[in-house]
Amino acid sequence: MSSNHETEVSFDDFDEIVNPRPDETDFDRVVEASISRRGFLGGTLAFGSFAMLNSTFLSTSAKAATDRFAFEAIAANSDDAITVPKGYKAEVLVRWGDPLWSDAAEFDPATRGTAKSQARAFGDNTDGMDVFSHGDKTLLVVNNEYTNRKIIWGNREEGKAANDDDIAKGKNAHGLSVVEIAFKDGSWSLVKDSPYNRRITPDSEMELTGPAAGHDLLKTAADPTGTRSLGTWNNCGNGKTPWGTYLACEENFNGYFSSSDESVELSSELKRYGIGKKDWGYGWAAIDERFDVAKHPQEPNRAGYVVEIDPRDPNSTPKKRTALGRFKHENAECVVNKDGRVVVYMGDDERGEFLYRFVSKGVYAPGGETDTLLSEGSLYVAKFHDNGAGEWLELNPETTGMASQAEICIHARIAGSKVGATTMDRPEWVAANPKADEVYCALTNNKNRGIKPNKGGDLTPVGGPNPREANKYGQILRWKPNAGDHTAKGFAWDLFVIAGNPTVHEDDRAGSDNVNPDNMFNSPDGLKFDSNGLLWIQTDGNYSNEKDFAGQGNNQMLAGDPVTGEIRRFLVGPKQCEVTGLSWTADRRTMLVGIQHPGERGDSHWPEGGDSVPRSAIIAVTREDGGLVG
Ligand code: FEO
Ligand code: CA
Ligand code: CA
Repeated sequence: MSSNHETEVSFDDFDEIVNPRPDETDFDRVVEASISRRGFLGGTLAFGSFAMLNSTFLSTSAKAATDRFAFEAIAANSDDAITVPKGYKAEVLVRWGDPLWSDAAEFDPATRGTAKSQARAFGDNTDGMDVFSHGDKTLLVVNNEYTNRKIIWGNREEGKAANDDDIAKGKNAHGLSVVEIAFKDGSWSLVKDSPYNRRITPDSEMELTGPAAGHDLLKTAADPTGTRSLGTWNNCGNGKTPWGTYLACEENFNGYFSSSDESVELSSELKRYGIGKKDWGYGWAAIDERFDVAKHPQEPNRAGYVVEIDPRDPNSTPKKRTALGRFKHENAECVVNKDGRVVVYMGDDERGEFLYRFVSKGVYAPGGETDTLLSEGSLYVAKFHDNGAGEWLELNPETTGMASQAEICIHARIAGSKVGATTMDRPEWVAANPKADEVYCALTNNKNRGIKPNKGGDLTPVGGPNPREANKYGQILRWKPNAGDHTAKGFAWDLFVIAGNPTVHEDDRAGSDNVNPDNMFNSPDGLKFDSNGLLWIQTDGNYSNEKDFAGQGNNQMLAGDPVTGEIRRFLVGPKQCEVTGLSWTADRRTMLVGIQHPGERGDSHWPEGGDSVPRSAIIAVTREDGGLVG
């Protein structure tokens, strides 16, 4: 997710405006720490040491001269179109507002639908997704992260909701869409009326599971048991479990709460999670009282989780997995460790927040019991040392001094601060390499690095995996667990790529050696490996194509070779979009790619062109010769 239309600032910036950092700021200490670090290592030397670390992991590159890319790189552009390499084609599979059932209305560009039609149609702003095979069926599960208010309410004055139905329409555009898709006449398309089609919205019933279920902090007037909550929203990235369920990750859940009472005192815990007295313009509290924190101050404690959903059972109740911690979840990357335990890697996408790991108590066995695997286990947070080593710090009552595991899960950020976790440059997607015991995480950017502490007052010194002050371009971190054991305490880390612009800068803003004028990009966000071990990189960054970002064009998707470090641009999205969400059909002949918020600032008519309403959509990318695409 990138910008807030009401204010034309990013969501993080909006958070900072409505909910400023603590007064103490520790600004002097931050400056002192980063200066002394630079004094010791020297500005560019510090950067050079990262290049060296980079080459340690890439030392096999000379041996691996084989080109594993099955495409020729494409140039950056600012077109209002999808661009793919020669020999590939891209077709739209499903768009915001497409009805999932034949008795539901087709999308009406004049009204942009109603609350009722939206509840029966594909949601807005496609994000994380995965494909599931179920017998001879193919099911696609997609997050609908948020809605473009100026587009969904573009028929209203100034793009604002005119009545309660408009607000409810926006609410129903959130959540998830589960759809059956089928390959017919050479293309994939939606199967209307499939018994698997389902909309999960901010009003769908959920079960709270794990250590925090039933805790006092989760109890509300509507749910005195603290075990049943309503809905999920702002689902960003996703995960897929080895047992075939989908993980939807609740990210900027805070932006939907507001207070009807200006004088209400918000707790420091609510503030750490960015809950303010004003929402981000969605207006939900006006039609649904539980979003009013003056009346229901514990309702926000029931959001910010990973939600497990079984797409094969359309009547199943989604389960919020509190054991995995409450924060602004990006995605949830599952790995089955050699001993069978399930390890889930997760980023908390906010400036200066942390990287987490969950390790299940039980082991996964195909066909065995799986319901407790994500509700019983241990939660850890990452600490990085400048020498290329790192460690996972367990969050439990003993290490944090907090009263219970329930509180630790609900206030995972506070627990992470207590053990001294490393403040990161906005951890986005995490992806594990299927061909090697290594894991990657996109650190998208962080203009506060070395400038401001995080919301909990933790310092954000320049160094370690966050090597640049006021980081504009982002980097991709990777780590290898000690002895290939994903449950080990220690790991070794380096940076796979430091994004930058070598045509504008000659200092550390030029990026690492594997960035050049032909493949440069900014703000890596979505990451996923294909079955061949190529790393696909999606961007959610600055698409101005000028100044620091000159020559980088629209948001895009690239592929990186973990062995050689080479990166090539594969796809460029339409104007003002973000490219996010990636999956493959079982035959690996179709790659599904999400195009989120084309025209978020009013300058796109993708996909239909002319003067049509821009619509977030999923595209199917295939080879013209019908070959494999991953
Ligand atoms: Fe929804 Fe961190 O991106
Ligand atoms: Ca993202
Ligand atoms: Ca992002």
